[in-house]
Amino acid sequence: MTQSLPGFREFYPPECAVKRAIFQKWQQTMLAYGFAEVEAPILEPLELFTDKSGPEIAEQLFHFVDKGGRAVALRPEFTPSVVRMVAARAQGLRKPIKWFNIGEQFRFERPQKGRLRSFYQLNVDCFGLADFSADAELIALLIQLFRVFGLTQADVHIRLSDRNLWFFFLESCGITGQAALDVLALIDKMEREDRAKSLEKFQKCVGDNASVLLTQIEALIAARDLPSLKIALGGALSNPAVAQRLAEWEGLLDTLDAMGVLPFIQIDLGIVRGLAYYTGFVFEAFEVSGRSRALAGGGRYDTLVEKLGGPALPAVGFAIGDVVLTDLLTEKNLLPTCNMTPDFYVVSSGPAERRIALGDVQILRAAGFWVEYALVDTGFSKQLKLADQAGARHALIYGESELAQGLVKLRHLGTRVESDVPHAQLKETLSTLSSSHHA
Ligand code: HAM
Repeated sequence: MTQSLPGFREFYPPECAVKRAIFQKWQQTMLAYGFAEVEAPILEPLELFTDKSGPEIAEQLFHFVDKGGRAVALRPEFTPSVVRMVAARAQGLRKPIKWFNIGEQFRFERPQKGRLRSFYQLNVDCFGLADFSADAELIALLIQLFRVFGLTQADVHIRLSDRNLWFFFLESCGITGQAALDVLALIDKMEREDRAKSLEKFQKCVGDNASVLLTQIEALIAARDLPSLKIALGGALSNPAVAQRLAEWEGLLDTLDAMGVLPFIQIDLGIVRGLAYYTGFVFEAFEVSGRSRALAGGGRYDTLVEKLGGPALPAVGFAIGDVVLTDLLTEKNLLPTCNMTPDFYVVSSGPAERRIALGDVQILRAAGFWVEYALVDTGFSKQLKLADQAGARHALIYGESELAQGLVKLRHLGTRVESDVPHAQLKETLSTLSSSHHA
């Protein structure tokens, strides 16, 4: 048997039901926050990602040359595609543009716990607002996307950081341009690396000052509140732009406090994001112990729309993946489920009753009920046994004497309690029954 590829999943019905339930919660939440759904191609020109996502993503691309000689790639992320869509119609769209997408992404990573080669993401993006109020709105929305599953601040937190502060700090150390980006890439790796290794890399990047610089960087990463952050910024504080940025930090934290989500937030400059396009506040969501990989990540990217040929349009967004989230919900016993059993199993006592029942099955299904019956006609008691095996909540019994009185028998298969339902009002009676059942 040919096996599926490493890092790709098959979803049998129970896993599919969980996936659908997660997507439904995502969708409901997005609509409540006023976001509209969009779609984009899964296969894109290779250059869309090699130029815009940065070297880390470029290394992980599934790419090939199609039969028309085009260099193409399966999308590793949704951001470049959605930015292109915005850029193409930016003038005509009412701002802020609030869009979301739920879709499959592909990255040639080493498959491991929480990281696969195919996974789903909910992508959320807001275009047209430069103010930190948009960052606050998206961070609060990300937190709501955890709360809808019953997760709390005891389970997840958001590590909040700022690439601007990093750039100001590095500038005060004389590190600018590509060198600053190189240092950020090193900071991104520090958490998963021992100190000696990091120091060696810093030496290669900035030379003799590496040791002092690394100590200063560690102080910034250790800061958990604004006063400690100010101290760790050291000489950078004399730059008026830094004072202004810290005022924006205060504004953002105050807004998050007003929204009631501050307990989820941890100031943590250790987060710099691996993708190249981020420009301001950035954040990642983690299970609180920090054992697992990131649940979600995002931030501000104010220059990407223009880089992809559109007008200058500020943007902020994030994506949450299904793999780490599903693992966490499983661990916490919070997996949402869909109904996996029929509402009614229709049973008939003979050929004439079966003909009447077959008509009703169509009517009940059209009304939205999940209705099953024995496709191959079989004896009465065998049908009842099949109803039990299917896990149906009720059997609907079409018997000769009941039908002669204009009745159908309804049997609760758990309690075995029976009642007679007038055949002429079957659909209406079952509808009230199911709404009181679900209430
Ligand atoms: P990202 O941090 O690369 O950001 O991915 C976001 C989330 O997708 C991760 O936190 C993780 O849950 C999930 N994810 C990423 N790679 C894998 C993988 N190999 N296997 C399983 N799950 C994975 C982005 O993709 C940005 N485009 C987000 C964004 C939207 N920024 C602005 N707008």
